[in-house]
Amino acid sequence: MNQKSRPENQINKNNKTDQIKILAINGSPLRKNTYSALRKIEDNFPDIDFEIIGLNEINLKQCRGCYQCIRLGHQHCPNIDDRDILIEKMNIADGIIFSSPVYVNFISSLMKGFMERLAFYSHRPHFFDKYAMVLSTCGMFGADKANKYMEGIFTTFGCNVVSSAELTFSTESKEEKEKNWKNTKNAVSVLLSRIGSGKKNKPSTRQLINFHIFKEVSTIYPDQFTADYNFHKDLSDFYYDAEINPIKKILIQRSVKSMINKIR
Ligand SMILES: Cc1cc2nc3c(=O)[nH]c(=O)nc-3n(C[C@H](O)[C@H](O)[C@H](O)COP(=O)(O)O)c2cc1C
Repeated sequence: MNQKSRPENQINKNNKTDQIKILAINGSPLRKNTYSALRKIEDNFPDIDFEIIGLNEINLKQCRGCYQCIRLGHQHCPNIDDRDILIEKMNIADGIIFSSPVYVNFISSLMKGFMERLAFYSHRPHFFDKYAMVLSTCGMFGADKANKYMEGIFTTFGCNVVSSAELTFSTESKEEKEKNWKNTKNAVSVLLSRIGSGKKNKPSTRQLINFHIFKEVSTIYPDQFTADYNFHKDLSDFYYDAEINPIKKILIQRSVKSMINKIR
């Protein structure tokens, strides 16, 4: 499942513990533009323990929409495939680069399918200690939108998304290549420095509302959202709420209440 066809293509066991470990997830079906941008990072940052996973090169089935992962827990997913190997790789990485080409003005279907398989993490966010970067490649436009979308989704999964790179592959000119590399290098440098500092993002209002809606809904309907209920029942306000100013807290509570009232 490793795009670099390392001999051992599962969990990389022989990484040095002092090396920063970056997992790059490629949402392109090709080893072309997006892949080449990722390889360039690997080649130019030789001290990083870097791994590229191509979503089309692993066995990742399509979400069946059965809600088992959301309602009961992700171990109940009927798809038997490489999803949990990929999650384990994300769990042991210091940083994750989520990358996608722009296809018809959006992220690729491969990247979207990957998000759908991990959608339970927006109910039960998990990757709080992960730093992430988003990278999109386009022919001309759409990379900013694709990155914004990935940033929003992976933030609700708990990731600290700290940088982004929007790359254009249209002319193959020297200028284009230089600009792409400058953007990439800057974004990777931010990612590495944030990993080094250990400083987490402050949770966004959207993140907090999302979190508290699922918490509230699972408290009201524990039988329908058992996994969410179990996730939330032993957590009081979580560290998500630490350092949130009291006025913002009240606004979030109001917003959650009004949304809950709509579904009751
Ligand atoms: C099906 C398809 C749709 C595309 N749609 C867009 C688009 O909406 N906007 C754009 O700027 N480029 C578009 N492109 C160009 C790709 O975004 C660009 O070539 C990208 O770098 C491809 O990355 P890849 O080689 O890693 O797959 C499209 C390419 C394909 C194959």
